[in-house]
Amino acid sequence: MAEKLLRVALIGCGRIAVKHIMAITKRHSGLLLCAVADTSPKAFDTLFDSCKLSDKKKHQIKNTVTTYTDYNRMLEKEKPDITSITVPSGLHYAIAKAAMLSGSHILLEKPMSMSVSQAKELFDISEQKNKRIAMGHIFRYFPVVGNLQKDVAAGRFGKISHGSVVVRWGHDQSYYNQTAWRGTWEHDGGVLMNQCVHAIDLICWLMNGQATAANAMLGKRFHDMEAEDIALGTLKLDNGALCQIEGTTNSPSRDHEAAFYLLGEKGGFRMGIRRGRPYFDIRINGKKKTLEYLIKELRSKGLSGLFSLTNPHARIYADLRDAVLNKKSTIADAKSGMMSVESVLALYLSAKEKKQIKIPLAKDFSSDEMSDYIFN
Ligand SMILES: NC(=O)c1ccc[n+]([C@@H]2O[C@H](COP(=O)([O-])OP(=O)(O)OC[C@H]3O[C@@H](n4cnc5c(N)ncnc54)[C@H](O)[C@@H]3O)[C@@H](O)[C@H]2O)c1
Repeated sequence: MAEKLLRVALIGCGRIAVKHIMAITKRHSGLLLCAVADTSPKAFDTLFDSCKLSDKKKHQIKNTVTTYTDYNRMLEKEKPDITSITVPSGLHYAIAKAAMLSGSHILLEKPMSMSVSQAKELFDISEQKNKRIAMGHIFRYFPVVGNLQKDVAAGRFGKISHGSVVVRWGHDQSYYNQTAWRGTWEHDGGVLMNQCVHAIDLICWLMNGQATAANAMLGKRFHDMEAEDIALGTLKLDNGALCQIEGTTNSPSRDHEAAFYLLGEKGGFRMGIRRGRPYFDIRINGKKKTLEYLIKELRSKGLSGLFSLTNPHARIYADLRDAVLNKKSTIADAKSGMMSVESVLALYLSAKEKKQIKIPLAKDFSSDEMSDYIFN
């Protein structure tokens, strides 16, 4: 029997949309790209031309995909099964809400929203309308990560002492200059909200806890922008474990690294990705277990599982399709979007008020409320 194709429409045809198009149009994805929307009509050609696809496939996509400059009209006309939202972060909330209310499941890029109340509302809509959300939290879809998470939760690493995440994702000034929304408190936030939110999501997930308190200091050292380019913070989780966070875009732009470390009573791991190359070092009771985890990954997901680093978005789409067809939750679900946004906003509030902040926050807070923050 032919596989059921889910119709996908994408809103926002910028840089990250290329990865989405590659994932949607991949062979056997079980997805059909039906439409794309962008307020800038020039964005359509730039998007398709930037995709590493054969001329034949590009031609075919251009001929079959309908383009819109008004996303509301697209949702109304196309009624897609899945809407992919790849617009500037400050627009995530309004567009995600419109897409779910129009009847669509969504793949929403990170961060889920720019305020706690918006994230909660999106979570509530997804529950009430029975719509799946898959967040663009790519790290949850990296090899080995899922099995590590299950094993930490099952106690294989023992009681957790602490975790640490380091995101050194350098960008030069031209990155922030290319579009007006980048680095603004209202539409982007700084390194915590943009480059770290999905890393914070992953470390809390791996540590099998939810953040209950936050402390942070922010700096703006190398860039001309509104928000921070260096952040140091700590979170306390509900299981008592502590978590340390370092995030910066000040490091060399050719040396991107996201590193994750966990220490438990019985073992621990350090893993990450540096210059596009993954590394793992997993130990339990003093013995190296890295190979065991790699073999397990290979057995369950095949070679494609181990190579999912090249386009983790393909894995997010496969997960969302499975969740929609089989009425399951996604790996990077609405809750992961909501919790990680709240953690980042608690870290911001802590820096602003120069004190420890309890999570859940006592009242709503948005990134925009950082606009009077003075770096000194
Ligand atoms: N998961 C990841 O690894 C990852 C990586 C990069 C970016 N992102 C996220 O993806 C989002 C987009 O980032 P980007 O780098 O592609 O940005 P971008 O500026 O390159 O692209 C955004 C696009 O959205 C379009 N747009 C703006 N307003 C619109 C509207 N109202 N309707 C339709 N289109 C509209 C713009 O014209 C532009 O083409 C951000 O939220 C970012 O945080 C995620």
